Amino acid sequence: MEKIAVYPGSFDPITNGHLDIIYRALEFVDRLVIAILVNPEKEAFFSVEERVELIRKEVQENHRVQIDQFDGLLVEYAKKLQARIILRGLRAVTDFDYEFQMALMNRRLEPQIETVFLVPAEQYTYVSSRLVKEIVSLGGTVKGLVPPAVEQKMIERFQQTRGKK
Ligand code: PNS
Repeated sequence: MEKIAVYPGSFDPITNGHLDIIYRALEFVDRLVIAILVNPEKEAFFSVEERVELIRKEVQENHRVQIDQFDGLLVEYAKKLQARIILRGLRAVTDFDYEFQMALMNRRLEPQIETVFLVPAEQYTYVSSRLVKEIVSLGGTVKGLVPPAVEQKMIERFQQTRGKK
């Protein structure tokens, strides 16, 4: 049977840490679906379409990776895909509480689905979408932490918003 994993998240934007987790997972799953949460209550930096596009640029060569968006319960979405694995990255102990709670809650909702945590390469353990946005907004460089196209798009977006003020 095909081993399908869902990698859910906001990916606002995708970082090299996310990509590191994706490539590690591809070592043991047959198909990986990167699933962007559509959350109308949370104001995002990039639209879902922009996020899909930025991810596509990085993974389009790999035919075992798909990009999708979802709303509602993650386990319901995973069941629809016939995915038995929810993939999450674990960077540091600070991630643990939230991830542990989510994993157990998802297991309670759907015992057939297992959450698998992967640890990224050391150089990405302190990388987060939130921090890279902050750094770029303050004029710093995030080279090596996000793909070049992502950095470029963030710079453009901040310039646009500054131009409007
Ligand atoms: O990258 P993020 O923003 O930390 O990802 C959080 C995400 C998308 C994994 C989480 O918010 C989620 O699964 N949302 C879907 C709604 C849901 O199923 N909630 C119950 C979780 S126990």
